[in-house]
Amino acid sequence: HAKRKIICADILDFLDDPSIAGDDAVRYFEQGALVIDQGKVLDLGAEKDIVAKYADITEVVRHDGKLLVPGLIDTHIHLPQTEMIGSHGEQLLTWLTEYAFPTEKKFADHAYAADISKRFLDELLRNGTTTAMVFGTVHPESVDAFFTEAQQRRMRMIAGKVLMDRNCPEDLADTPELGYSQSKALIEKWHNVDRLAYAVTPRFAPTSSHEQLAACKQLLDEYPDVYMQSHLSENIEECEWVDKLFPASDDYLGAYEDAGLVRKRAVFAHGIHLSERELISLAKHQAALSHCPTSNLFLGSGLFNLKACEKHKVTVGMGTDVGAGTSFSLLQTGSEAYKIQQLQGENFTAFKGLYLATLGGARALDLEGSIGNFTPGCEADFVILDHHATPFLSFRLQHAKTLHERLFAIMMLGDDRCIEHTYVLGDCIYQRDAQPQFASSN
Ligand code: GUN
Ligand code: FE
Repeated sequence: HAKRKIICADILDFLDDPSIAGDDAVRYFEQGALVIDQGKVLDLGAEKDIVAKYADITEVVRHDGKLLVPGLIDTHIHLPQTEMIGSHGEQLLTWLTEYAFPTEKKFADHAYAADISKRFLDELLRNGTTTAMVFGTVHPESVDAFFTEAQQRRMRMIAGKVLMDRNCPEDLADTPELGYSQSKALIEKWHNVDRLAYAVTPRFAPTSSHEQLAACKQLLDEYPDVYMQSHLSENIEECEWVDKLFPASDDYLGAYEDAGLVRKRAVFAHGIHLSERELISLAKHQAALSHCPTSNLFLGSGLFNLKACEKHKVTVGMGTDVGAGTSFSLLQTGSEAYKIQQLQGENFTAFKGLYLATLGGARALDLEGSIGNFTPGCEADFVILDHHATPFLSFRLQHAKTLHERLFAIMMLGDDRCIEHTYVLGDCIYQRDAQPQFASSN
């Protein structure tokens, strides 16, 4: 059993949504141990029990006193926007024209796309993110380059080439036919290769003609387990524009519904300004929302109604939405999600935040049982969180008594500095440099 190993740490994961199932959803082993066999979870429990049960396993890795959590899952992020995070001063539609579109033009060059893909994936790992659902650009090269790099790192990734045939710069436009044939070729080349999966990616309703949305549906009908990703109801002006462009549809979601794109494995980013009808329809069709708090605040888009999603049983994951989002860190994203709920008088625990960034994300991507928690058989993607990451954090955490206080402080104050190790399929593929600590603490 050369490939079996035991990882010792304080282990935390989720069996369900803690704001629905309560404390039973939270599984925690202080001084726990995770048993890995060939990159998958074999068992999990208290260290003393596991070490006795698996006395034959000689490889034991110790992360004593550190918190081990499932690899983080980012359900919405844009590869090409890596270099323009924090572009100042505009809301969605002007931001797209002034910043996003010009940057995306650079991805016609495969070498450029490869360089950004490397930086992007390294940055995900530095932030503890092991799975993401990723927008490329309109150029198939963007997705080719991205999947090539992701495959080398053995990461579970979902991505797609953008389809957009109107209301965009001419040199970023495809056509219904070209969008279809390029997407189809990428599906044939990459979908279900190793841990990679393809997502048909119409940018959003305003940039796709009815014919192009129909071509997207055709792809999904031909490849039923391929994903769909798009944007939905992010900004008021955008919503009014969609009303004008799709006068025959009930509402924004209705435009996608009428095109046959609201279904299982469809993930819509944002979903801020939704009616009750739209929430009910998302739940009925088993489509998911990606909540992107840092982006919603940065672009001034609005406050996501998480309680309404819970009420209507809409599946929700979290997304960074880089580069309208301001951080690759899902810890920082959870911190902003907390503040968005605070502004609406709603409670949001650190358990809910970490749930959304792990099992919630896995559910949004229809990958529960493969990633998101440590159920035996799951792929062993996980992160070691270091609460001594900075002198101040170390000091602050001395005053955290309960598990929740500890996790909440890490989420509010932490970022990439707290990610000490990132493991993919049981192997450590990112290790942070040593951080300074207060001499008086340990
Ligand atoms: N809606 C359509 N395209 C985009 C994008 O690139 N970013 C965000 N935040 N919203 C969008
Ligand atoms: Fe986005």
